[in-house]
Amino acid sequence: MSQAIFENVLAASKAVYDHTPLLQSFGMWPQNMTFQSKPATPVPAVRQIKAWHDPHPLHIATQEAAAIANWKQTYTEEEVGFGFLQDYGYIELFGPDGHFYTTEMRGYIAYWGRGLYYPWHHHEAEEIYCVVSGSGMFEAHGTEPKMLGSGACQFHASNQPHALTMKDGPILALVLWRGKGMADLPLMGTA
Ligand SMILES: [Fe+2]
Repeated sequence: MSQAIFENVLAASKAVYDHTPLLQSFGMWPQNMTFQSKPATPVPAVRQIKAWHDPHPLHIATQEAAAIANWKQTYTEEEVGFGFLQDYGYIELFGPDGHFYTTEMRGYIAYWGRGLYYPWHHHEAEEIYCVVSGSGMFEAHGTEPKMLGSGACQFHASNQPHALTMKDGPILALVLWRGKGMADLPLMGTA
């Protein structure tokens, strides 16, 4: 039962990949993925996600999985504050600790609420965001800040500091990680 719900999220993510050349050039879609049962770990933001209507198929598939998904929050209240943790969360859809096990690449679906500022952070793995729904102001060292909406992508090189501000509303994004450091977590700060 729950497997079918996550299969839908995976299929909708693959459809985004198939329509987004920047994601395709980032890396091959994993060939070997095995569903693994994960406990439901709802975060407060699930309520916002379920109440936010958008016709994007991956948005809808994520809403349908939201109540039973294995939500994660990398950061502690000491790092980001109580409010941030009410308005943010992500699912590892596929990867070493994902709903679908693979070591080829990591795929996340991440949510940040309206008005949230995701401070400067970095990680060794290379990363690409693809906005599913909503929008955000993407900042990365060495580039001009830009507002990105549905379908737009942002690439971050290894250890390139980046930040994200939700100015006009919330954002839901498909995020892929590849390469060295893929098993690590993001670190706050710019160095
Ligand atoms: Fe990142």
